[in-house]
Amino acid sequence: MERVVTLPFRTLLVAGCFAWGFAVWAPAMAQTSAPPVTFTSDQDHQNMMDQLGIKALRPGPSGNEKAPNHANNDESLANPYPNLPDPLTLNDGQKVTTAQVWWDKRRPEIVEMYSKYVYGRIPKDTPKVTWTVAATDHEMIGFTPVIAKDLIGEVDNSAYPAISVKMHMTLVTPARAKGPVPVLMMFGRAGFPSPHEPSPDEFDRVNAAWKVVLEQQDPSLKEVFAQHPAWQPVKATPFAFPQMNEDGDPPNTWQLINAGWGYAMFDPASVQADDGAGITRGIIGLVNKGQPRKPEDWGALRAWQWGAGRGLDYLETDPSVDAKHVGIEGVSRYGKAALVTMAFDQRFAMVLVGSSGKGGATLLRRNFGEAVESLTGGEYYWMAGNFIKYGASEATFGSMNPGDIPVDSNELIALCAPRLTFISYGIPEKGDAKWLDHEGSFMATIDANRVFTLLGAKALDIQGDYKTAKMPPVNEGHLDGALAWRQHDGGHTDAPNMKWFLLWADKFIEHTPPQ
Ligand code: GCU
Repeated sequence: MERVVTLPFRTLLVAGCFAWGFAVWAPAMAQTSAPPVTFTSDQDHQNMMDQLGIKALRPGPSGNEKAPNHANNDESLANPYPNLPDPLTLNDGQKVTTAQVWWDKRRPEIVEMYSKYVYGRIPKDTPKVTWTVAATDHEMIGFTPVIAKDLIGEVDNSAYPAISVKMHMTLVTPARAKGPVPVLMMFGRAGFPSPHEPSPDEFDRVNAAWKVVLEQQDPSLKEVFAQHPAWQPVKATPFAFPQMNEDGDPPNTWQLINAGWGYAMFDPASVQADDGAGITRGIIGLVNKGQPRKPEDWGALRAWQWGAGRGLDYLETDPSVDAKHVGIEGVSRYGKAALVTMAFDQRFAMVLVGSSGKGGATLLRRNFGEAVESLTGGEYYWMAGNFIKYGASEATFGSMNPGDIPVDSNELIALCAPRLTFISYGIPEKGDAKWLDHEGSFMATIDANRVFTLLGAKALDIQGDYKTAKMPPVNEGHLDGALAWRQHDGGHTDAPNMKWFLLWADKFIEHTPPQ
């Protein structure tokens, strides 16, 4: 006879609950602890093309002006889609004639289109960031004593511990400032600018210890030291003039401190890597738990914007900073990042957009220099996945081209209005290549002017609309309005415009440089 084993009901209940609990818990565990997907940039690009149903993309042009497939630089072919989307017409066709309608309806529409189709969305619930001052140093910038704080912004990764994100920013402010100072946050390498060195006595101790260590390593050095008793292995760094800016002026950081400003170096790579292979890591990877992006997810430009915004959160807590007057700056890809930051994060009071080109201040619709096809090809990870559609030659939806993009950079610049917005370029002869399309940026700037005017800001003093206005000669600044334009006679840098930026911004924020 078979024995039937019966378990008491309570035991069954407990076992059942355990099994159910495990079933719920196990996949969640797998998701939070599985390592991030490791793709090459090409694999990630392909994955996004598959998600979008794209079979083939038009190739981007070459930046080498001598290559057979070089980018167009013939102005007569530059405007295949001559009409820009109008920042002052609502999606339903109604005209925007009041500031109220701009703020309530049109601005949100443009933000939404940019998020959905161009740069991607910042997720609603991004993790918390905790800033700590890793070290504070008393240094000199030029002849001005400063306080330099090295800051680490640790992103809460408890939802996905396999990825850790530690943002790096260095804040430098004049030590003798009488109150909080305006600060320019700049995208670039963070770190102490000129570390304070040991005193002569401390150097003696360092050297005595060094000699012992060196002699242990190589006992024959004892004789060398004996023969050169006055020589010391470690010496104070001799004073040296820094590398001057291209126009012969002191470096940007010196000019800022000298003008009574502070600056913060924010390292973009510390929040999101500048490559496609890194997109399953960094802040984007952390939020996606190591999985590849979906078409509307944010690209690197918005991740850098988010990081800068978290940097500003810290600055708002630092009593040495006038947080109402924090600007953002960057050149080239970081010029794009600076413009994106200013456009979307309205707490930034001013921007210096250096040589930003396509994906920045220049018109996406223009066919001159860098192309939309560059941004949908190798540079795709700066943008939302969805943006790749505009480079598609063969897809389930057919094909698309730059004329299909529902927004353009005249509207991106308009999102900065009425705040202080300085669009800066150099010249091709010195290395600010035609690739950047200076004319296309000027056209966008001119058109954005209408929004600055609508919002009551003093606009750019240039006659005409984007089809008729003439680009001003090199070195002729148009700096009387909240929207400013200046093409300097240097290369791929904004350094020769820094002194103009400071004069311009100081006037608007009523800041007086120390005497
Ligand atoms: C390339 C790229 C540009 C970018 C530049 C840079 O030229 O095409 O979009 O601005 O690199 O950042 O140096």
